[in-house]
Amino acid sequence: MRLLGRRLASCWGAGVARAAAKKLPSRRQLLRSAAWLLLVLLVLSAPSLLYHQYVQSVEMYFYQLQMEHMKALTAASPPSAAVNGCTIPLYDPFDARVRRFMTLWPPVECGQPQPYLTYVDGDGYIRVNHSGVRHAGLAEAGVQCAYAEIRRDAFTDDTVSYGARRAFADREKLSAPFVKAECTRRDSGKLVYEAVHAWVEPLSDALRARVLPADPLRPSVLIFGVDSMSRLNFVRQLPRTHALLTETFGAHVFTGMVKVGDNTYPNMLTMLTGMAARKKPDIKVTDWGDNKANGFFDDLPVVWKNFSENGYVTMTAEDQPELTAFNYLAKGFMEKPTDYYMRPFWLAIDSVRNFRSSDARCYGNTPHFEFLFNYTREFVEKMRDKRYFAFSFLTGFSHNSINEVQVIDAPFHALLEGLWRGGALRNTLVMILGDHGNRFDAIRATVLGRVEERMPYLAVALPPALRAAKPFLEEGLRNNNASFISWYDVYELLADVALGNLEAASRVPRFGQLGCSLFRAVPARSCPQAGVASEYCVCVREVALRAGDEAVQAAAQALVAHVNALLRRAPCAPLALARVHSAQLLLPNGGVSTPKGFAVEVRVAVRVAPSDALLEGTVERDAWEPLGRVRGEVARINKYGNQSHCIGDRTLRLYCYCVDLLPRSPPPPPAA
Ligand SMILES: *[C@@H]1O[C@H](CO)[C@@H](O)[C@H](O)[C@H]1NC(C)=O
Ligand SMILES: *[C@@H]1O[C@H](CO)[C@@H](O)[C@H](O)[C@H]1NC(C)=O
Ligand SMILES: *[C@@H]1O[C@H](CO)[C@@H](O)[C@H](O)[C@H]1NC(C)=O
Ligand SMILES: *[C@@H]1O[C@H](CO)[C@@H](O)[C@H](O)[C@H]1NC(C)=O
Ligand SMILES: *[C@@H]1O[C@H](CO)[C@@H](O)[C@H](O)[C@H]1NC(C)=O
Repeated sequence: MRLLGRRLASCWGAGVARAAAKKLPSRRQLLRSAAWLLLVLLVLSAPSLLYHQYVQSVEMYFYQLQMEHMKALTAASPPSAAVNGCTIPLYDPFDARVRRFMTLWPPVECGQPQPYLTYVDGDGYIRVNHSGVRHAGLAEAGVQCAYAEIRRDAFTDDTVSYGARRAFADREKLSAPFVKAECTRRDSGKLVYEAVHAWVEPLSDALRARVLPADPLRPSVLIFGVDSMSRLNFVRQLPRTHALLTETFGAHVFTGMVKVGDNTYPNMLTMLTGMAARKKPDIKVTDWGDNKANGFFDDLPVVWKNFSENGYVTMTAEDQPELTAFNYLAKGFMEKPTDYYMRPFWLAIDSVRNFRSSDARCYGNTPHFEFLFNYTREFVEKMRDKRYFAFSFLTGFSHNSINEVQVIDAPFHALLEGLWRGGALRNTLVMILGDHGNRFDAIRATVLGRVEERMPYLAVALPPALRAAKPFLEEGLRNNNASFISWYDVYELLADVALGNLEAASRVPRFGQLGCSLFRAVPARSCPQAGVASEYCVCVREVALRAGDEAVQAAAQALVAHVNALLRRAPCAPLALARVHSAQLLLPNGGVSTPKGFAVEVRVAVRVAPSDALLEGTVERDAWEPLGRVRGEVARINKYGNQSHCIGDRTLRLYCYCVDLLPRSPPPPPAA
């Protein structure tokens, strides 16, 4: 392991190694001191050496016995490719085992629960749609439309208020980026229409003074994230978009991309800050921590701050305000985090309760994603001559099932193609990504689904002018397209762009603490060196174990006991092992990963009562703890719905079955 450590050059190894070489003492000096040291050590440590020898032999004996026993049970291993220190599983997106999980999803059909009475034009005028009025059989003079500004409340990220209602007849210049519009009948006062509009305002004077003109050599950045999209599922469900990216945009799609945390928050936090969301054993990187996450995120060093300092105008837009990266069970930002911030719009649209479509994916007549797509398009088009950093993230169409996302393939394709054709992306680095794969649809309980959950989609396309001017950046991306990489590496790439570090050799070791920019060679590394916690590591070889095996049963019991210990203080029912769903023996991989001492690692997925939860974790067993201990986080791999409504803790929510949901036991019989 130690030898290996030296061979694993860091992505900036050379420069630093040279600096160190100057200070090295002469070879002879070194030998002489080493000989002395050895002698002294030998005399002092003989008893302890003997003891270690004994301990090691016990451990080794246990390990060998276990491995022999388990290897006898092995089955075939999945297709894979050895890359920088990792054997990456490479499945066919249309693998026969996946087909049974693929279904056609009903197209979005909003219908027309209300007429189309108002809209906002590109110049920021709210207008009455006269043909819409006529079309609805209303007399032009018979309806009164009005709008109110949507205002973000102070000191919170979770509420908005509305300005005074302002009636308008034909058109009126908006004084705010987000407004709520209503129309009523003049005769009865009856509400006939209700909608929320967004528009992208021109730069304020303050921004105009700070924002620099577009430049392909300091490219703008458009990140569009789609929740829970593995690479394989993106290829399956969004084929037109994927083809556009690879064929037209010339995007690189990274087949060795591995997530670093469970859900959206830890993955996007790492991508945007280079930090870990929370502390992980053996990953040497600063963490933001759960405590701080219970407060606001304003002090988080998000990379958009670095873009901002370098003349970029910034934007974030995410649908589903209760699920967004920094707001799910958290407080978000006290001050608006980016120059353009769509959150108040989404908070307001959730309060629009009239004229609902029978299709839950719509607001009134409009598919939900269209608001996010349009805002993104409008921002990119209006800022095309400026430097900008835009982060859009869609959750509502992909979070629950692997299939639901297929309905956005055509509109997503249209959005990106329209921007491309119109030249609005001429100076823009485009990054399309999933934060992780699906976490609890039925596919997740399969071997393939587990790999997908850990391997999100990532496509990166450079603007053509940058490609031409700096071919080594393009080459760097291509050379890494099959490398084992993580969000820490993507953070380095973003920091490179933000800070203009775009030469062949980096001018700094790295901006964060772990990653290697995708623009330059990513060296061989272990999972912890790439910032990937062991429970998400895909580099180990694995073999399936039989559920009935004694060792598997022991591991399953250890897993359930561990989760019950976590739940001890919570108002949750104790969980009981119902059955073992699957188990794998994790084998150290030649190259970078090495056995951890002499511990045997078994990954086990179990079904528990009374919640019917599927829980999955890694159990480590050695001579001293033959029953095993759980290492890392335990994942919940099916939905928990409302089972944990009684608890707020981000982690415990995954496991908790609230006691109030237990069937009531019959009342004790009255005393005779
Ligand atoms: C105006 O109303 C017509 C008729 O209902 C509709 O087809 C059209 O899309 C509306 N225009 C806008 C911009 O809402
Ligand atoms: C990665 O790059 C190689 C060329 O170096 C190319 O043949 C391969 O198709 C690329 N893979 C992907 C997934 O883009
Ligand atoms: C990036 O921005 C953060 C937050 O403003 C700051 O702490 C950090 O020093 C910046 N990084 C660089 C390399 O300028
Ligand atoms: C979104 O943009 C398209 C194309 O410009 C337009 O037809 C549509 O009405 C817009 N939708 C909303 C909700 O503004
Ligand atoms: C979840 O269940 C609890 C208790 O039965 C109930 O009070 C709460 O309203 C439910 N929430 C949802 C979203 O169904």
